[in-house]
Amino acid sequence: MAESEQSRISRRDFLKVGTAGAAGLAGGAAILQRAGAEGGSVEWLQSDRQPLCAIPLDRTGPVPTVMGEVDHEKNGFDPSEILTDFDYGKVTTLPSGQTLREYEFVAIEKEIEVAPGVPFPAWTYNGRIPGPTIRCTEGDRIRIHFSNGTTHPHTIHFHGIHPYEMDGVPGAGPGDIDPGQRFTYEFDAEPFGLHLYHCHTFPLAKHIAKGLYGTFIVDPKRGWPAADQEFVMVQNGIDVDFDEENEIYAVNTVPFHFMGNPIPIKVGEKVRIFLVNILEFDPINSFHLHANFFHYYPTGTSLTPTEFTDTIMQAQAQRGIVEFSYKFPGQFMFHAHKTEFAELGWTGLFDVTE
Ligand code: CU
Ligand code: CU
Repeated sequence: MAESEQSRISRRDFLKVGTAGAAGLAGGAAILQRAGAEGGSVEWLQSDRQPLCAIPLDRTGPVPTVMGEVDHEKNGFDPSEILTDFDYGKVTTLPSGQTLREYEFVAIEKEIEVAPGVPFPAWTYNGRIPGPTIRCTEGDRIRIHFSNGTTHPHTIHFHGIHPYEMDGVPGAGPGDIDPGQRFTYEFDAEPFGLHLYHCHTFPLAKHIAKGLYGTFIVDPKRGWPAADQEFVMVQNGIDVDFDEENEIYAVNTVPFHFMGNPIPIKVGEKVRIFLVNILEFDPINSFHLHANFFHYYPTGTSLTPTEFTDTIMQAQAQRGIVEFSYKFPGQFMFHAHKTEFAELGWTGLFDVTE
């Protein structure tokens, strides 16, 4: 079988492995028994390039979900907690009166259980994927004390307006921050909106796919209009077998997490989602909300929405604010409307109650 064909099969069938003995299979080329969703079993050729990681999947419901939970405690983060985990930093006031927010960022190599029984050797900021959600107000001074605790050089490149030497790319200012080295990025937060940060060391795709990215929210000076709930959703994927294709898609890293852990909201509540797409290797991602429409603010840089819709598309690093409220109670799906991604993990539920 041609290599390309083999890897295509590997990707397509990655999540299709049934529930029996699925996790922790040994590496090397092998013919495996696959317990099919139909109750039978089929043979499945494992890619010989990387050890197989198979995910126990429940296909008995209307949509497939992962069986079991990852060890959030061991991972050091929980996708549900990341929704509302805004980091305002250590706040002081500069002599000029300007608000100063300081953050400690450490690049850490860490094994993360990205799906039940599936370890991923990640590179992280502060031990989590995505990294901390930096939240500040337009005009604040931001200081990020960055230490590289890994064995590879890294940077932090922020989206936003800042001096050249703070751009976090090789060659600019300190350039790559080598293992064991430290650098403080400092700039004023502008413009208001929804931004992101990520490592910009080359090869860039690898440094992002390994997990070095996060959300950067700059609130307008006068704030956003009031909302009852605010959530951060980072659309990402995991290239579990390092073939430069994702096997897993998700928001906040763990596939199907919000199927097993629906997000509770109330009928009539105004919900604001800070939606960021950092997905590597695939050109686009998308967000679709069921039984509802939302207002969409691309990049969050205007208080006037550009669209009232139920589906939007984002290329890598595109992001936007999604606002809606539910008229009816029920369990409503949200997912990538790149349906392949939806079936490989990028699917969740809002649990809407009276
Ligand atoms: Cu890096
Ligand atoms: Cu970028």
